Amino acid sequence: MARLLIITTPGRSGWTMLLLVVTLLSHLTTTLTAGTMTPQELLRGFSAQCNVDSSTSSFQTLLSDSVGNYSLGFLQVNKNQLALAVIHVPSEEPLWIASTNRLARWSDRTRISFNGSLVISDPHTGLFWSSYTDGDRVRISNTSNLLIEKVNTSVSVLWQSFQFPYDTLMENQNFTNAMTLVSSNGRYSMKLGSNFIGFYAKFNVDSNSDPDSGQIYLKHHPLEAKARVFEGQGPIRIVLNSDGYLGMYQNGSTPVDVQPFSSFQQPGSGNRRIRLEPDGNLIGYFWTGSSWVTDFKQISDPCELPSACGSYGLCQPGKGCSCLDNRTEYNSGHCDIPGNQKEDSGGDFCGLIDRNYRVLRTYGVQLPQKEIKAYTIKSSLEKCESSCEEVCTCWGVVYSNTSGFGYTIDYPIQTLVGVQDETKMGYFKLKEGSGKKKLVVWLVVGIGSSCGAILLFLGVMWMFWKRSAREKRSYVEEEGVGEGVGPYTDLGSDNLKSIELS
Ligand SMILES: *[C@@H]1O[C@H](CO)[C@@H](O)[C@H](O)[C@H]1NC(C)=O
Ligand SMILES: *[C@@H]1O[C@H](CO)[C@@H](O)[C@H](O)[C@H]1NC(C)=O
Ligand SMILES: *[C@@H]1O[C@H](CO)[C@@H](O)[C@H](O)[C@H]1NC(C)=O
Ligand SMILES: *[C@@H]1O[C@H](CO)[C@@H](O)[C@H](O)[C@H]1NC(C)=O
Ligand SMILES: *[C@@H]1O[C@H](CO)[C@@H](O)[C@H](O)[C@H]1NC(C)=O
Ligand SMILES: *[C@@H]1O[C@H](CO)[C@@H](O)[C@H](O)[C@H]1NC(C)=O
Ligand SMILES: *[C@@H]1O[C@H](CO)[C@@H](O)[C@H](O)[C@H]1NC(C)=O
Ligand SMILES: *[C@@H]1O[C@H](CO)[C@@H](O)[C@H](O)[C@H]1NC(C)=O
Repeated sequence: MARLLIITTPGRSGWTMLLLVVTLLSHLTTTLTAGTMTPQELLRGFSAQCNVDSSTSSFQTLLSDSVGNYSLGFLQVNKNQLALAVIHVPSEEPLWIASTNRLARWSDRTRISFNGSLVISDPHTGLFWSSYTDGDRVRISNTSNLLIEKVNTSVSVLWQSFQFPYDTLMENQNFTNAMTLVSSNGRYSMKLGSNFIGFYAKFNVDSNSDPDSGQIYLKHHPLEAKARVFEGQGPIRIVLNSDGYLGMYQNGSTPVDVQPFSSFQQPGSGNRRIRLEPDGNLIGYFWTGSSWVTDFKQISDPCELPSACGSYGLCQPGKGCSCLDNRTEYNSGHCDIPGNQKEDSGGDFCGLIDRNYRVLRTYGVQLPQKEIKAYTIKSSLEKCESSCEEVCTCWGVVYSNTSGFGYTIDYPIQTLVGVQDETKMGYFKLKEGSGKKKLVVWLVVGIGSSCGAILLFLGVMWMFWKRSAREKRSYVEEEGVGEGVGPYTDLGSDNLKSIELS
């Protein structure tokens, strides 16, 4: 719909200037969201704001590739935050997200601009993300690679999103030892070692934000059927091949490892992606033209996932999830053990408040992927247990009475795998429910009530003061009291609001 706007302003010399402004703005925005007129490149000087109108969808398109399979735009996350993302348009799957330490707000103040650098900023909070380039244009390749290019006599790529992956790798995208895939919940990551693909979990909430810190939960070593990895002779890289396999390469084009997918050698190109999932698995997807089907799972047995049933869970092959503590019920994906909830399970048993624990012993359990876990040989379960008891960073041990292998768990207990073997035993520390949590609750209640009391006192004093002032004034002015009451009560309710907010 076109609008006609007539603005009359008196000029300096007394003239009247007539300004005719035809705003096609509303028309423009509808076509933009409809995607028919989405630009295929952004040039220097481009700038766009996030449109927070509640009627708009959670993704706002700014740029598309030549066929409209992929788009760059504002993606709404966590209800009120915003990320710059490349999505697959038909399925609305995010494939790439600009990684920032903090996310911008889903607000019309947040804008993206291109002045050589692609920049997300907010005039109040400043810069959130920048590509730090000096390019001439931005475009998306037909494989979803976001490119910033310099255009002079020839075109050169200055920056590409394929070098900064998020949780997804696309077909023919090189994954090198300089890159990390991180699951969308930030818990799991994938990195290349000198001769393996490593998968890492961050179960210790307290540990610093270094992506390297974390427990390795899976190592994939190459088969080296046709070529070998020569250590110290250059890094390895992996590529999702159009033919339907995950290939590992060192030098040249002969793979040192091939992990074929179930859609191996299906015709077509540009239909594949792999993603590190929020459960720690690496999953391959094939686009059928209308939906993504799974054609590869790095971890095929669900019980071998790093935390299949959540903390203090028990995964029994073929039976599913229950809890290590058989007095606890498995409920909507986790075991509710007081004091061991996700939000306060971060700290170990070394702190002042967290020293207390009770012990849980179970039989017929082992660690998932135990082949890659470090162990020490102990002559008895008692010796193994006491080595954990004395160490406040130890959360538990798993011991095999037949082999004498003792596995120390130095992170919050996750899911154990059930086995039909009573000689495999577990010893686990459980935080006392009355630890930190209760103290924190009491602190909050204490602070809250004393603040409340002070505010109430101030409020009452203020009311008294106002009333006496009003009485004095109405005495002098002999005005109607009704008029005076309005503003005062209004002010009062404003005050209440600010208390609620703070
Ligand atoms: C582009 O804008 C950002 C943010 O305003 C600024 O920091 C940067 O210096 C600008 N770059 C150029 C080349 O003007
Ligand atoms: C074109 O741009 C590239 C990248 O900045 C630069 O290396 C090259 O020298 C430029 N060529 C000319 C002719 O300016
Ligand atoms: C991946 O790396 C190989 C070898 O370095 C290179 O030939 C190829 O062009 C790269 N592919 C992409 C999409 O960057
Ligand atoms: C691989 O490449 C590195 C560096 O480019 C080289 O030093 C090494 O000899 C090569 N190894 C093989 C097996 O070709
Ligand atoms: C992308 O475009 C190139 C040519 O520019 C073409 O060779 C290739 O097959 C296309 N890939 C897809 C997935 O469409
Ligand atoms: C890309 O677009 C083409 C043409 O519309 C379509 O056939 C193909 O399935 C699309 N690919 C993906 C991965 O969406
Ligand atoms: C719970 O496990 C313990 C030890 O494994 C066993 O003695 C007890 O009978 C079990 N309780 C229930 C309700 O299954
Ligand atoms: C562990 O093994 C020892 C020696 O083989 C045996 O005496 C003991 O009963 C076993 N303990 C359990 C709990 O199975």
